[in-house]
Amino acid sequence: MPYAMGMNARLPILTSTLLLTMALSHAADPISQKPFGELNGQAVTAYTLTNAHGMSAEILDLGGIVRRLHVADKDGKMADIVLGCKDVDSYINDSPYFGCITGRYANRIANGKFTLDEKTYTLATNNDPNHLHGGNVGFNKKVWKAEAAVKDGDPTLTLTYVSPDGEEGYPGELTSVVTYSVTKDNALKITYKATTDKPTVLNLTHHGYFNLAGHDSGKTILDHDLQLHCDAFTPTDATAIPTGEIRKVAGTPFDFTKPHAIGARVDAENQQLTYGKGYDHNFVINGEAGTLRPVARVVHAPSGRVMEMQSDDHGVQLYIGNFLDGSFEGKDGVTYQHRQGFCLECQRHPDTPNQASFPSAVLRPGETYTKTTVYQFSTQ
Ligand code: GLA
Repeated sequence: MPYAMGMNARLPILTSTLLLTMALSHAADPISQKPFGELNGQAVTAYTLTNAHGMSAEILDLGGIVRRLHVADKDGKMADIVLGCKDVDSYINDSPYFGCITGRYANRIANGKFTLDEKTYTLATNNDPNHLHGGNVGFNKKVWKAEAAVKDGDPTLTLTYVSPDGEEGYPGELTSVVTYSVTKDNALKITYKATTDKPTVLNLTHHGYFNLAGHDSGKTILDHDLQLHCDAFTPTDATAIPTGEIRKVAGTPFDFTKPHAIGARVDAENQQLTYGKGYDHNFVINGEAGTLRPVARVVHAPSGRVMEMQSDDHGVQLYIGNFLDGSFEGKDGVTYQHRQGFCLECQRHPDTPNQASFPSAVLRPGETYTKTTVYQFSTQ
């Protein structure tokens, strides 16, 4: 009887179907959301995007903050590999820009001034003499309009913020749309789009602090091996403003063209390291801007976690948490120590609005600013 099966033959099929059904019913929803407090009466919501492998990102509509990022190690064990704050109040008042979208202009503008089309604009000087990360109330402190949906099979959060003309001193009403997705191949993909109704300057980035050992590992990131696809960097003055020079990294502690532990040369004798208190510098990404291309590869050997980053922007800021000093209590009761997280922020070079030799950061009506950054995770 070729088509009839005895009970014994059917059992394994029934058992595996049952196990599959149980596994599926336990798989996390691709999108879930929960309240995360409020800001000036506005509700703040935490969205969690989870892919089929269990990689997940918890993202707030406040500042587009990636508050948690769960990624597997070589044994399949998940850890949350980004630094974060405990609540809304801490994100607004104390956070060193953990996980947020920085804007309108990520990084510094010298003396909080720039001239565009012969008009001079004055911005807040919230970083010694300079303007930093969009000013006193940057995009990291705004509640964005959020829409979560599965797009092309990937859980995706689309965030929109309309910044009024003149906000924080910048010209033009600027509409920014940022999307985050957790992809089937374990990447956190971020796309940016923006339009303006008057000429303006713009530089959006993601300011995640990563620690591939886990945010609560108690370890610094100095043992992470970093490779940067960057042959040059932008040296800075004593206030972290680029001098305008594009300097080759060869022969300096800024040479990560071959993988090196982040800590290997961070205390080397070098005037640039003194000024930036360690690495806090912008690099020129090799290849054509406008094309998605490799920027960095970071390996944490003990856990086997690997982060590979791609971007179509011009530059990337390497910052290694030099200003963390053990006094800050973050999420889960964790206190972050000096250099417990590293940032790789794809962006235009700092102070571009005042630096004629750098690729422009001007956006004009009728143009659309677009960019994509991918942080891809794997193990080795
Ligand atoms: C950036 C800057 C650093 C520091 C951090 C936030 O990455 O380059 O100097 O201000 O943000 O603490």
